[in-house]
Amino acid sequence: MPKTNFEIKNIRKDFPILSRKIRGKQLIYFDSAATSQKPKQVIEAMEDYYKNHNANIHRSIHTLGEEATEAYEKAHEKVADFINAGSYQNIVFTKNTTESLNLLAYSLTADLKKGDEIVISQMEHHSNLVPWQQLAKQRGLKLEFIKIDEEGKLDEESINESITKKTKIVSIMHVSNVLGTINDIKKIGNIAHENNALMVVDGAQSIPHMPVDVKKIDADFYAFSGHKMLGPTGIGVLYGKRELLENMQPFLYGGEMIREVKFEDTKFNDLPWKFEAGTMNIAEAVGLDAAIDYLKKIGMENIQKKDKELTNYTFEKLKEIKDVKIYGPKERGAVVSFNVDEIHAHDVSQILDSEGIAIRAGHHCCMPLMGVLKAHAAARASFYFYNTKDEIDKFANALGKVKKVFRV
Ligand code: ALA
Repeated sequence: MPKTNFEIKNIRKDFPILSRKIRGKQLIYFDSAATSQKPKQVIEAMEDYYKNHNANIHRSIHTLGEEATEAYEKAHEKVADFINAGSYQNIVFTKNTTESLNLLAYSLTADLKKGDEIVISQMEHHSNLVPWQQLAKQRGLKLEFIKIDEEGKLDEESINESITKKTKIVSIMHVSNVLGTINDIKKIGNIAHENNALMVVDGAQSIPHMPVDVKKIDADFYAFSGHKMLGPTGIGVLYGKRELLENMQPFLYGGEMIREVKFEDTKFNDLPWKFEAGTMNIAEAVGLDAAIDYLKKIGMENIQKKDKELTNYTFEKLKEIKDVKIYGPKERGAVVSFNVDEIHAHDVSQILDSEGIAIRAGHHCCMPLMGVLKAHAAARASFYFYNTKDEIDKFANALGKVKKVFRV
């Protein structure tokens, strides 16, 4: 484990919002799976960009234009290095994970024939389900779902049955935003490749919490968002293998993604600009660059270890409370979804909010999964390295209060 100055007091000082009070109580932010909080280093990098360097990129032949272009291109390199992508050309900036997956759903299904199959799983977020579902409907493709087992893991037998020679694309989340399940995407990718199918990974919930090496995983595509990894909203990433991106049709057409335009036809730009049409989110790219610097300073192994401690501790605390049902396996990412007896998750969330505790409640953008779990909704506490065991103690005490209010 690399040595680091993992002093929680110092880390928390970097996140201005963590000193906020909610209804007179100290904020406890347990909703980082929805979006993480931002350190001042990210906020300041974006402020500096707007105050001192703002201009459009790849167009303006003046100092500011050159500075903005350099900052934007450097952010691609920073991301490429962070996930071991090999080259900035394999890194396409999008708005978020959803847009990255939509790009793929459109571009990768363009050449598929009626009856070709796409395999996803029952635990997918809507962002990795609805695009494939709608494209499959439009193109006469078949969508197969890998089932989950009792524990909330992908069922081995179902993986082997679902992925066949008819499969053209397999698209699976690395870590579930509801169950916390960490999927063995390398193994699933190997099965996909043995069947000549492409492997797409939704990395929205993994990238912020663990070291990810896209070459080791051998993913063909890997999608994630900046805002869950300390970066701003409005910037997402699609990593793709070079030869695959080269052969794909652009998703959005217009300015910037072109090399030469005639009235009759257009030659597209080089990678990755071919997929980045119009004026992109430049300041957000600068923010993402600063977020990666921050994550690297802490160290992804350290973050993973801290997340694990917090999640295990939450398990212990929740086990002490009667009538709490936790969804998903013990070995998991930094989310704990649960229900307290028959109390609706929204009520749980509201009472916790009165104690200054922010959790998420609802279907978590996974309505089909909630159906499989036979739960209309669930409460979810999600953690990041800036959280503490003391906050978890307060959360567990507040859950006791929820039970008292509802007399269960
Ligand atoms: N996908 C995000 C979540 O799980 C928004 O909360």
